Amino acid sequence: MTGSTAYPNLFTPLRLRGVELPNRLVMAPMSTELGGLEGEVTPAMIAFYRERALGGMGLIIVEYTCVDPDTGRAHEYQLTLDDRKNLDGHRRLVRTIHDAGAKIFMQIQHCGQYANRKVLPGGMPVGPSDIFSKRDPEQMTCRGLTSEEIAKLVISFGNTAALAVEAGYDGVELHGAHGYLLTQFMSPLGNKRDDEWGGDAERRLAFPLAVIRSVREKLGELPLVYRLSADEFRPGGLTIDDMEEIAPRLVEAGADALHVSMGWGVGPAFEKVVEPMSMPEGWRIPYAARIRAATGVPVIAVGQIRWPETGEQAVASGDADLIALGRPMLTDPEWANKAKAGRRDLIRPCTSCNWCISPHPGRVQVGCAENPRTGTELDPPIPVDMGKGKRAVVIGAGPGGASAALLLQQSGFETHIFETRAFTGGGIIASATPPGKDKLFWYSDYLGNRLAESAVIRHFGKRAELEDILALNPDVAILAAGTRRIDLPIEGLDDPIVMDAYDLLMRERDLGLTEGQHAIVYGGGETGCETAEFCAHHGVHVTLVSRSPADKLARSAEWVYRMGLLRRLHENPLITIVDNSHVRSVGNRKVTIETGGVAREIEADRLLLAQGRRSADELAAALGDAGIAVSVVGDSRQVGRIGDAVHMSYRAVQALSAQYARMPKLAC
Ligand SMILES: Cc1cc2nc3c(=O)[nH]c(=O)nc-3n(C[C@H](O)[C@H](O)[C@H](O)COP(=O)(O)O)c2cc1C
Ligand code: SF4
Repeated sequence: MTGSTAYPNLFTPLRLRGVELPNRLVMAPMSTELGGLEGEVTPAMIAFYRERALGGMGLIIVEYTCVDPDTGRAHEYQLTLDDRKNLDGHRRLVRTIHDAGAKIFMQIQHCGQYANRKVLPGGMPVGPSDIFSKRDPEQMTCRGLTSEEIAKLVISFGNTAALAVEAGYDGVELHGAHGYLLTQFMSPLGNKRDDEWGGDAERRLAFPLAVIRSVREKLGELPLVYRLSADEFRPGGLTIDDMEEIAPRLVEAGADALHVSMGWGVGPAFEKVVEPMSMPEGWRIPYAARIRAATGVPVIAVGQIRWPETGEQAVASGDADLIALGRPMLTDPEWANKAKAGRRDLIRPCTSCNWCISPHPGRVQVGCAENPRTGTELDPPIPVDMGKGKRAVVIGAGPGGASAALLLQQSGFETHIFETRAFTGGGIIASATPPGKDKLFWYSDYLGNRLAESAVIRHFGKRAELEDILALNPDVAILAAGTRRIDLPIEGLDDPIVMDAYDLLMRERDLGLTEGQHAIVYGGGETGCETAEFCAHHGVHVTLVSRSPADKLARSAEWVYRMGLLRRLHENPLITIVDNSHVRSVGNRKVTIETGGVAREIEADRLLLAQGRRSADELAAALGDAGIAVSVVGDSRQVGRIGDAVHMSYRAVQALSAQYARMPKLAC
């Protein structure tokens, strides 16, 4: 397939120095934690990148690879390439990506002050300047480099670039963004020296320029990309105005293209590196355009680009030359092929939920909430014929149920799905309703469309009763029925001003208040905080009552999103937070709140209960008693996030292959 009528600009080749890229789509570098303990490329990593190259991306930029593991490593699974011992794996990776039709660059990097002391032989990170702990001013957390060490590191960058060329890479990207060593030297916040490597703006540039020259020398006609943060978004840090002056200097020193990223990887500015979903689609593109205008070299735009038309428009208008996708490559490796075929509707959408950067017990490697195969590409696929002649029933069409039904149907089961509501989405709707979270509707729409197009038999608008399920005589049942309200010890709960916050966010009840009225939200978890924000968004005054202290609000929310949510809650003049308190009673438009044993009455027009939910798993026992093996997944098993539900469903269907799949027999 050549060209694309739907997005012609995205599918036009581009020459970068001596290398022709087949199209304008770049996979952004993303640490997969699939590397080996010696910093080597593993088969799992090759399989991960191969799927993205086969998916039609023109250029894969491999994750950050450390130039000096003794001083600069981020974590134990980070790639390193400082001598020939790891060359072989890189050669195999490069060959695989070339065979799949894409070009491949290596991103080279040094963490500087943010190196992980647990994986450094000397246990002490190094950077431009000495840094001491804020808590214990005697304790050094980073040692300032000597001039000799700096000169050696310049050579290390060149050395790694030379090895990348030897491994067959088509180019190199220097990681000069996100607060790592190159940025630490460039930024007044990181560099406190007063010698040839720091002291003023010019001398702070000396290290990045020396590194560019060192790498350029090793690359011959291969291109060098410099990744920068167009704005650090830190008080006193580099801004886009500074970067418009700095970027031409990077080009003069030898960068052929600039990759325009954003933010600082540690602290609050991290929310500009891997943004939460509240940031609008394509918001960074104007920054890429300014860097392009300031330098005249090709730029790569990246960040919150989710749909092909956004990228197409950026290239067509001359704002950017290449479009990099980070998280969308975790969600849907086939993104490029689907765009090229004009099938935008088939793209599994990245909602920027950031499940992929959250910790998950028992899991180290990269993953995606919506795509359980990400990071496990070497696992045998679920066999397509394991359900042949068998019937499956799924109860609930939230993320867990809908994704389970799709997998079951694709693996050959006659699949029935029951859903009380008339539509797909379940708990996704409640998660998507608060301000700034509407991207989650992309996922419920996606699941709804996939179900509608599939052969799954939908029993929507109907609560699944035991008899309905038994009448189908299923071989397999999956229970994904979501949650139920918890009854609270509050006097007067049948008062008309009381409403379940979940019903409001599910859009099953109207808030029924006008601007200036007063709502009390009871519950300091994620739902309570979001309900408070939702009410304030409608001009309603809110008292948010939390049983826990204020610093524990929304404690199980994803951490980048939580930073912004808490900041907004505290800054919103319509919201008052009352922590360490309980709601005791409601009646006559008054709510009694108890704090430290002291009760007081507050007038209110609405009391919204957001005190947590419990799993709706009642059917499990009844099905078990009827002799049907049932897997309980999602919130029905344990109340969690969308990704937890989808992954549980995947594992439940995968587990069926032990029971039903016919495995080919190989002998040795
Ligand atoms: C799991 C993960 C790992 C990342 N690792 C790197 C990395 O190794 N080097 C880098 O420059 N940026 C890294 N990033 C940032 C991405 O390259 C990208 O700039 C960012 O995710 C914003 O783009 P997106 O909205 O398309 O995801 C990482 C992002 C994620 C989500
Ligand atoms: S986990 Fe969420 S943010 Fe991360 S890639 Fe998947 S959909 Fe996107």
